[in-house]
Amino acid sequence: PATAGIEEVSQMDWDALRQAVASCTACPLYATRTQGVLGVGDIHADWLFVGEAPGAEEDAQGEPFVGAAGKLLDAMLAAIRLKRGDNVYIANVLKSRPPGNRNPKPEEIAACLPYLVRQVQLIQPRLIVALGRFAAHSLLNTDASISSLRGQVHHYHGIPLIVTYHPAYLLRNLADKARAWEDLCLALNTLNNPIPE
Ligand code: URA
Repeated sequence: PATAGIEEVSQMDWDALRQAVASCTACPLYATRTQGVLGVGDIHADWLFVGEAPGAEEDAQGEPFVGAAGKLLDAMLAAIRLKRGDNVYIANVLKSRPPGNRNPKPEEIAACLPYLVRQVQLIQPRLIVALGRFAAHSLLNTDASISSLRGQVHHYHGIPLIVTYHPAYLLRNLADKARAWEDLCLALNTLNNPIPE
């Protein structure tokens, strides 16, 4: 069967992970996706950015954040002198596109999360930026609002984690861009001046 067990995923190397995501049938989204989208970037990156799920462009190209939201994410990276692929890895909570970009369902997140967990283990980033509520909620195991989660340093298994708005949200809510900038500054500062958990 194409569906890997959780114990199995936790042992996988990058090749195995890529193959598992490509052939995954752990949730019904496999039936409507074009392809699974594992992630992109430097597998030894200090920075891990986590979004929600592939959209239409990502589903077609097999790479996270290549559509409109991705352009804004690239600009956010550039604002703190980062570049896609250069000390940065970009992944999503869901590896398969929900039809019509609807929100991920809890059971889809539960089925897919082992892949992201394994990505974090393999990358061992020095900082995680959760983009939007699905990344924040999945990694921090909370359902608190983004506004209550941002502005502070959280931790995921000892790795500092900063919560900010999803770029697709920022495209619709320009006024919150200044807050996203504050979040990026907090992230930079946290990475440069780590404080113990
Ligand atoms: N939005 C996401 O959360 N992830 C992508 O890869 C693209 C858009």
